[in-house]
Amino acid sequence: MEVVICPDAEEVARLAAAKVARVVRDTGPEVVIGVATGSSPVALYEALAEMVGEGGLDMARASAFALDEYVGLPVGHPESYAEVIRRTVTEPLGMDPARVHVPHGSASDIEAAADEYERAIEAAGGVDIQILGVGSNGHVGFNEPTSSLASRTRIKTLTARTRFDNARFFASADQVPTHCLTQGLGTIMAARQVLLVAQGEGKADAVAKLVEGPITAMVPGSVLQLHRFATVIVDEDAAARLTLAAYYRETFERKPDWQRYLRGI
Ligand code: GLP
Repeated sequence: MEVVICPDAEEVARLAAAKVARVVRDTGPEVVIGVATGSSPVALYEALAEMVGEGGLDMARASAFALDEYVGLPVGHPESYAEVIRRTVTEPLGMDPARVHVPHGSASDIEAAADEYERAIEAAGGVDIQILGVGSNGHVGFNEPTSSLASRTRIKTLTARTRFDNARFFASADQVPTHCLTQGLGTIMAARQVLLVAQGEGKADAVAKLVEGPITAMVPGSVLQLHRFATVIVDEDAAARLTLAAYYRETFERKPDWQRYLRGI
């Protein structure tokens, strides 16, 4: 796992965007990106949108797959992830809406929708780079603690903590849906590269457990330790509880140029 500690959240977004842009350019116009919702990747999407606006990046033929969606929100609800992805990814990055996919949380047959989502990712050739945030309880996507480390897209029940964390997007906590449709940890692990961003002290505990703790379903993101190409980019506050922080800083400083090129940063 490659761990990069940045002085601030702006630098997290800049480095993460540089990495995604590198993968897009290296893979070609039909690159497939995995996209997360939540606050963590917003500045990264803005940095990518800036590159698109300046003509340095073309996402017109790229595809995207979102990690998850609430179950039970009406189609078009402003906080549905389909709408969030449209506002923060599809439109600013100039992507073709037909190539941007979000699990169908309002489907009448949720199990069929989950299977169909897995097939759609496969049909697109798999995800080239999966962008991730991390929940304060260590979840990635909506894979809550005790999720199977081999899970695929399926319905999950949100924990009280996640519903509390996400209450800021709704008028009140009890309006946060209780269920979601999320890519599984096995689905996420199948991406060719994964890139997790985290900012702020509220994520320090989750980041330390995910990067340095034991691999356990109690910290679902810890499964990323088994991924061949996992990069974690965090600011100082989110890095506050990392035992080997000095080592990660040194590693990044001493990274040879050829490796920066290959890995995109
Ligand atoms: C959300 C999403 C995740 C996200 C995480 C952290 O509920 N399902 O994909 O990474 O929880 O959210 P945030 O970035 O807002 O802290």
